[in-house]
Amino acid sequence: MFADIIVDLQYGDCGKGKVTHALCKRGNYTHVIRYNGGCNAGHTIFHNGHKFVTHHIPAGVFFNIKSIIGSGCVLNVSQFFKEIKELEDGGIKTEGLIYVAKNAHIITQDHLDEDGKDTAIGTTKRGNGPAYRDKYDRKGLRAKDIPELRPYLIDLYEELHIKNKDSIVLFEGAQGFGLDIDWGDYPYVTSSNCISAAACMNAVPPRNIRHIWGVAKAYETYVGAKEFQPKGEIFNKIQEVGEEYGATTGRKRQVNWMDINFLKKAIQINGVTHLVFNKMDVLTEIESWSLVENDTMKRFDSEKGFTEFILKYLVPQRLHQVHFSRHKDKI
Ligand code: IMP
Ligand code: MG
Repeated sequence: MFADIIVDLQYGDCGKGKVTHALCKRGNYTHVIRYNGGCNAGHTIFHNGHKFVTHHIPAGVFFNIKSIIGSGCVLNVSQFFKEIKELEDGGIKTEGLIYVAKNAHIITQDHLDEDGKDTAIGTTKRGNGPAYRDKYDRKGLRAKDIPELRPYLIDLYEELHIKNKDSIVLFEGAQGFGLDIDWGDYPYVTSSNCISAAACMNAVPPRNIRHIWGVAKAYETYVGAKEFQPKGEIFNKIQEVGEEYGATTGRKRQVNWMDINFLKKAIQINGVTHLVFNKMDVLTEIESWSLVENDTMKRFDSEKGFTEFILKYLVPQRLHQVHFSRHKDKI
């Protein structure tokens, strides 16, 4: 058994769904497992010309691959069934493909009510924080306690270590490095570990990890209560051209230039081997290419200059592959 991991290197919304989709199409994965988070996540996926937004269910389902909500996740049961219905209504076969780790924790109505009152962090109000708090307080409900989930339950140990020893797993992370509870800008973070290491808490040990796909954007976006976007019309332009709206809450995402030092740190802590930059064409459309290095803005006069600088800067990271992708290419 071995596994690849997809991890977001900024503040979520860098296009992990797109990378999952591309890897599922060309890889021979037997399982796709979401390793952290709940329905605070929103993955926008274009499949056969249709747009799907999934919150819980990993993108493996579009390719007939077993798709599992892992033990590191928290689950809203009614949202889970709603998504299955939306997929079925959109012509995607889900039967026998979707599973929930029996030890994943449950988001309850109380969690939703409590998180609904948040104003300090700017959460997605999906009950994520209270559900994780109760998990660590040892008061949580787990998937195996919910009768409606019985047909979907899976024991990740049995599945990956006993029944299918030759599994090839793709782990799909949620949120991103800048929102990680330990490595993000606390308290403006989510309530789980988003970094690649968190994948290994879903029954796959570190020695079985093969590639780590880090996903970044040509600029940064963030949704939440802290002030993130600097003054300047240019950022509104990027927001518009990049269609930067939260997939879960519809909120406008705040925009800033890419911080290259932060990206390097994310690559190092996540152990990235393969790097994808999404939405390169957005900066090209507005004809402005800048990034921040050591708190100082650096301007470039072409996409070529911008990408050359990034590639040169990242040479010491010894990445196996770097890909640049465009917003226009939906898939
Ligand atoms: P929570 O995860 O709903 O508790 O929200 C905590 C912070 O993480 C807020 O700033 C949210 O906007 C942000 N957040 C949570 N999930 C996502 C995501 O999938 N993409 C981007 N931001 C997210
Ligand atoms: Mg998202």
